[in-house]
Amino acid sequence: MESQSYYSNRRRIRANAHIRELASSVYLNHKTFIQPLFVDESIYTRTPINSLYEVNSDTIDSMLLQIESDIQSGVTKFLLFPVPLKKTENNFDFSFVLKALKAIRENFGNTIWVAADLCLCAYTSHGHCGVLNEHKSAVLNDTSVKIMADYALQLAQAGADCIAPSDMMDGRIHAIRTILNTNGFDNKAIMSYSAKFSSQFYGPFRDACKSTPAKDCLISDRKSYQSSPFNGIDAILSTIRDIEEGADMVMVKPALAYLDIIQKIKEQTQFPLAAYHVSGEYQGIELLAQQQLVERSKAHIEVWTAIKRAGADIIISYAARHAQNWIKEINY
Ligand code: PBG
Repeated sequence: MESQSYYSNRRRIRANAHIRELASSVYLNHKTFIQPLFVDESIYTRTPINSLYEVNSDTIDSMLLQIESDIQSGVTKFLLFPVPLKKTENNFDFSFVLKALKAIRENFGNTIWVAADLCLCAYTSHGHCGVLNEHKSAVLNDTSVKIMADYALQLAQAGADCIAPSDMMDGRIHAIRTILNTNGFDNKAIMSYSAKFSSQFYGPFRDACKSTPAKDCLISDRKSYQSSPFNGIDAILSTIRDIEEGADMVMVKPALAYLDIIQKIKEQTQFPLAAYHVSGEYQGIELLAQQQLVERSKAHIEVWTAIKRAGADIIISYAARHAQNWIKEINY
């Protein structure tokens, strides 16, 4: 082919694996992955989560075994989701997750890093991320923030390295930073779910946490506190606000449908940015793989690469425990 310009030959750079590897603009590293864990007070033995392939709900004991095997697979960072036995409207009992955190610290010391998800949705009988007003028509912002700030302090005392609020109330980062600092925990990080969208893709997670918003409330979805997919600017402003309030790391969630938001937040803030490849996104790949329509590992790698290319530093994935192996096997 007669060349029009130096750029017209694009196949030279694609010619073989060596040059493709050299010319890659993104490399994945398993060290930047976080593995979610579900620890459930209502079970006596490890229980598979049917809607989340290969992911289990753990007892405290089986969680410790899971962490041990994850460490063997190269995982050192975890995000802990508690599923308490008792659901109430108020006066929440956080003791189960505190026990889980203490067990982690006793068994693993500081060889692993644990972020504790901070939200009320697994605790409330109605499944909302905060407490409701008496008519059950609205989530009360400041009342919920106060409860969650106290909860954050307990998580820090129990040994969490990082507090990860996922509730999307206003002012929570400031409240959490303040209570941590005034109690001598200024070394504990905050990873804010700052750009968290009201999404269809949380379905399997809500199964696992039994946290689907109840249909008998006057509000039956999370649109009044999670960001709208139709308003990308809100998610960006929410992230900038959380940074100003003291967040150390910020997050976009879900990941794949919001790559534009990842890119913009990274460009605008330069802050450490996590992307949460959420349960429905994960399970979508798993269902395709089960029908042999995609190769499981390669499909995850492709999506993770897209998330990195968009600008995320950190990837939260239910398949984080495969990251080291799968990345090693990448065929460029
Ligand atoms: C809510 C919360 C959600 C997830 C983590 N924390 C979503 C929700 O129910 O609104 C979703 C994670 C996933 O889908 O993997 N506190």
